[in-house]
Amino acid sequence: MKVSYHGHSVVKVKTETHNILIDPFITGNSLCDLDPETVEADVILLTHGHNDHVGDTMAIAERTGAQVVALNELAVYLGKKGLNAHGMNIGGAYTFDFGTVKFTKAFHSSSYEEEDGTVHYTGMPGGILLTINDKTIYHLGDTSLFSDLKMIGDMHDIDLAFIPIGDNFTMGPEDALVAADWVQAKYVVPVHYNTFPVIEQVASEYTDKVKTGKGLPLEVGEEITL
Ligand code: NI
Ligand code: MN
Repeated sequence: MKVSYHGHSVVKVKTETHNILIDPFITGNSLCDLDPETVEADVILLTHGHNDHVGDTMAIAERTGAQVVALNELAVYLGKKGLNAHGMNIGGAYTFDFGTVKFTKAFHSSSYEEEDGTVHYTGMPGGILLTINDKTIYHLGDTSLFSDLKMIGDMHDIDLAFIPIGDNFTMGPEDALVAADWVQAKYVVPVHYNTFPVIEQVASEYTDKVKTGKGLPLEVGEEITL
């Protein structure tokens, strides 16, 4: 499969049969190179309800019919909006036709703000372990450093981890180095930085210091084959 990074926390996974988008925040994401009106999607995976993660999910799912997989409260909310949403919860795994999704916890918050300013709380935030053909990607979502990352790394053979480094809203680079040690992925890709002034970071300064696994400062649109 081919895995690419598209700015902020946007990840695209292309397998022989499916196009999978994770946290497709495209409109309003100045770093993103995708077009919400043409991007292909069979599946959309969401780590939590914040608008910089749900992003263009509604429009993309309405256009493509993509199935949306999210933690329960967010899935129920999106289901009521007419999307084909599959709800899960922390610690649960389910095998879909595209692969297996397991949600991990994340220490963060989760709410969705509609265009009129109405805020809906959308349950727990999470991280996503996506396993396809014996390869596992771990998208940590938005989170602080938390020690269960070590357990998650010990229990799963993780090929590629997307770790937030932006600071302010999530862990920053120093904590993200500890996270990389604990998750023990073969490749470590930093995400959730440079989108907004408060989360400016130099990705290569982080990836140069990654000790466990290979730090990969993926450019927007850059792809890695697993
Ligand atoms: Ni968030
Ligand atoms: Mn975020």
